[in-house]
Amino acid sequence: MDKIRIRGGRPLSGEIVIGGAKNAGLPLMAAGLLTDERLTLTNVPDLVDIHTMAALLAQHGVAVERPLAGGRELSIGGPISNTEAPYDIVRKMRASVLVLGPLMARMGHARVSLPGGCAIGTRPVDLHFKGLEQMGATIRLDGGYAQAEAPQGLHGATIVFPFPSVGATENLLMAASLADGRTVLANAAREPEITDLAECLLAMGARIEGVGTDRLTVDGVRRLHAATHAIVPDRIETGTYACAAAITGGEVHLRGARMDHLAALVRALDEAGVEVVERPGGVTVRRTGRLHGADVMTEVYPGFPTDMQAQYMALMCVSDGAAMVTETIFENRFMHVPELNRMGARINVHGASAIVRGVPALSGAPVMATDLRASVSLVLAGLAARGETVVNRVYHLDRGYEAVEQKLAACGADIERLPG
Ligand code: UD1
Repeated sequence: MDKIRIRGGRPLSGEIVIGGAKNAGLPLMAAGLLTDERLTLTNVPDLVDIHTMAALLAQHGVAVERPLAGGRELSIGGPISNTEAPYDIVRKMRASVLVLGPLMARMGHARVSLPGGCAIGTRPVDLHFKGLEQMGATIRLDGGYAQAEAPQGLHGATIVFPFPSVGATENLLMAASLADGRTVLANAAREPEITDLAECLLAMGARIEGVGTDRLTVDGVRRLHAATHAIVPDRIETGTYACAAAITGGEVHLRGARMDHLAALVRALDEAGVEVVERPGGVTVRRTGRLHGADVMTEVYPGFPTDMQAQYMALMCVSDGAAMVTETIFENRFMHVPELNRMGARINVHGASAIVRGVPALSGAPVMATDLRASVSLVLAGLAARGETVVNRVYHLDRGYEAVEQKLAACGADIERLPG
């Protein structure tokens, strides 16, 4: 298994191109199941998770093509011949469950493996199921699979989420687009990736009101049609490289980044002494002075993203003073803490909060993490640490960061991939 070796202590300087958002690309690909006609996505990142979703769609019988070799375009189209999402794919990537809504809407039945637990918590999918049941589906569990049926098709319903779930909102939004009648999704999540999905569905002929709000009203249509859609820039990749610039005391221009999707992070960085300014074509991040401790609490959008918690915590490890980092979305998302502490950080976890007491410097160490954002937080720590850090289990990084070592090396980091 590949590793990444970093020799820390070099301020980053230069430009990093921000790719399309993984978490928008995955539901958008699933939306390709809503029509036999061709859905063309542009600005598609080249990531393991995107390949996994392509493999899942292909085994549903749909043609998934990259028209230009090595290009950023992906087209999806053709009839569905198989409605089973097998355990072997779903266990690799939880977002596979996003095919459930489209398969039910198109075919009236689906058999989707339950994703099970993951490194950051139990992560149930009950809200996806309850919503589909309200729309007329029956779902029973059979051998680790959800067997869903709606012989009469799905109908509209008013679904009030007990709390906003990104995946459940996306799944039900897709299902509702082809359901009979009106569906209202109340207390829905409103992450930019959901807005991106809604905009693509609108381009395919869906009728959706309230896009960007926590109340989506969908009038089902009989069929959706071909469309071309550019995937929104990845706000988490943007935030991660913003923290990389900040932790090394450098200056980096993030080309293609959208600052309006990162308001909560920008606020925290500002308090911590990091400058983030919108410039033509992107966002520039710079730190010249000392870092200060600044508290954050993860929340649903537009609050501070849970997917930025680990990277921000790495930054706080080398600040003056202390910061409290509170995680409210997932119950077990501090797996990076012991590894950061092995690098000399001073972090104590109390329940859902971590107190980070800044130290003057971290020291390099061999480390590994069990999820994507935790892994990249160790890369950030390595960039700032004295000496050498080796991050093991790089496959987590490859799920969500394209060419991470190349992008950082181009800005002056001493970082390389060691093939394993
Ligand atoms: C998505 C993102 C993930 C991000 C998360 C929160 C993708 C592919 N993944 O994950 O990177 O960290 O949003 O911003 O877009 N929950 C339930 N029942 C459900 C569904 C969710 O209890 O049926 C709980 C989860 O366990 C969690 C919370 O709701 O505690 C939020 O999860 P959710 O917003 O659904 O996250 P995902 O869509 O899985």
